[in-house]
Amino acid sequence: MSAGDSFYIATPIFYVNDVPHIGHAYTEVAADVLARWHRQRGEDAWLLTGTDEHGQKILRTAVANNTTPQEWADRLVADSWQPLLETIDIANDDFIRTTDERHEKAVATFLQRLYDDGHIYAGEYEGYYCVGCEEYKQLDDLVTAPDGEYKGQLVCAIHSRPVEILKEKNYFFRMSDFGQKLLDLYESQPDFVQPASVRNEIVQFVKQGLDDLSISRSSFDWGVKVPWDETHVVYVWFDALLNYVSAIGYGVDDEQFAKRWPAVQLVGKDIARFHAVIWPAMLMAAGLPVPRAVFGHGWLLVGGEKMSKSKLTGIAPSQITDTFGSDAFRYYFMSAITFGQDGSFSWEDLSARYQAELANGFGNLASRVIAMVNKYFDGEIPTLGELTASDEAIIATQKRATEKSNAYIDTFAINEALSSVWQLVDELNGYITEQEPWALSKDPANRERLGTVLATTVNGLGTLAILLSPVLPKATEKLWTAIGGVGELREQRIDDAQNWSHSGRVTALESSLFPRIEVDAESGTA
Ligand code: ME8
Ligand code: MG
Repeated sequence: MSAGDSFYIATPIFYVNDVPHIGHAYTEVAADVLARWHRQRGEDAWLLTGTDEHGQKILRTAVANNTTPQEWADRLVADSWQPLLETIDIANDDFIRTTDERHEKAVATFLQRLYDDGHIYAGEYEGYYCVGCEEYKQLDDLVTAPDGEYKGQLVCAIHSRPVEILKEKNYFFRMSDFGQKLLDLYESQPDFVQPASVRNEIVQFVKQGLDDLSISRSSFDWGVKVPWDETHVVYVWFDALLNYVSAIGYGVDDEQFAKRWPAVQLVGKDIARFHAVIWPAMLMAAGLPVPRAVFGHGWLLVGGEKMSKSKLTGIAPSQITDTFGSDAFRYYFMSAITFGQDGSFSWEDLSARYQAELANGFGNLASRVIAMVNKYFDGEIPTLGELTASDEAIIATQKRATEKSNAYIDTFAINEALSSVWQLVDELNGYITEQEPWALSKDPANRERLGTVLATTVNGLGTLAILLSPVLPKATEKLWTAIGGVGELREQRIDDAQNWSHSGRVTALESSLFPRIEVDAESGTA
């Protein structure tokens, strides 16, 4: 992709039955890093996130809390879901709620179109449903509870709670018509579903043959009304998936829609099937392009199991950011877990990496270099003199870090992108140890050499500020100001990060980029 291109990326929209935990924040951060990265390539990047508010799960939560689903959703969005974006520093361009009028209208428009074109018929659904998943289940999705409250009953394998048996008149989407078209899509566009593990699972699933999908419910009314039959509401997943197009003007703003669509869809692998099977089938039926890619990332695990609200293993993002800050939160999850695989969170690992990589590795490098320019050159950034092989090696690493990290971002390998940037951090630290500027400063004869060493490290810091700004927006902003970076940091081209200019002077860092934190590893609190 190149400058001027549009890059639209969306997160799932999250259920408002409960407050966010670090699993939701993980998806948000990854999408935000990718959006910021593409923006810094001069692309017209657009990040969408939002909330999923209809369906039985939300309705029941509201009833259990003696309120209406609309009031419940309004409260959770205002008190928890929107503040989450602030907590972890997400620069989203839009926030969609499925109760927004723009969304409800788009759902009705889309559904009517499918109905008019013969993709929908009335039928009878008889089978299982898990309200926790908001999903129709087959017998082999269920297990007999081995113990506990529901011992001996058929329960959802994911939620460990009994499923409901439905028998109602529903409208069905002829999804079975799209099985072969989907297989052709996976074949002709091998990177449509990523990573390979998720792709294989999806291909296997579709190869077994697709059933038609029940897309309406008539036993409750918290949802978008089916436009030709107001006794039905639209199935919550069919409604929710449409957020990706309702938010960009589907049916009302053709120009915006054409400019943005198709999106890159970033989701957890738990909901990859909805995004890589049902969603493209819906789009094909409506004659719209399928997403650019669906990436199903791995799970954050607690005690070897997926962290989840229903299992009460959720950790609130603010528990981490209150102590470590939002930059460290972002860095930790993006660097410590291979993007696309599962990963375990631990306070010990977080504190160890914070200390070694952010405080000692990057933060300390920045403060030492800035302090030396202040001390030896009164804040004036020296110019490069004659270059040695060591200086040339740093320049080459700046270029390599830029190229490699940009290439990794194109394959969603966010952790690899960070590790290519970290080679520059490590090499700059090694260079300073080896060049010993404090020793050079002792002899006026070495003045030019001292200047070259400090100029080389300042240049490296500028490249780091640019390459790390999508992940560490706050710390890099401080660094950019301190090294006299010219222009807005977020406007510096990330695919040319070795080229930047400064005003000629450093200013002292107001505070360490990553202050020392004494943590109690058990609670994670300071
Ligand atoms: O499924 N590890 O919403 P949801 C990593 N409303 N990511 C996790 C995670 C974990 N342990 N737990 C949750 C829904 N996530 C629907 C989506 S989209 C049209 C509708 C993240 O609130 C991950 O992105 O259950 C996962 O896919 C999502 O939260 C599920 O959020
Ligand atoms: Mg869920």
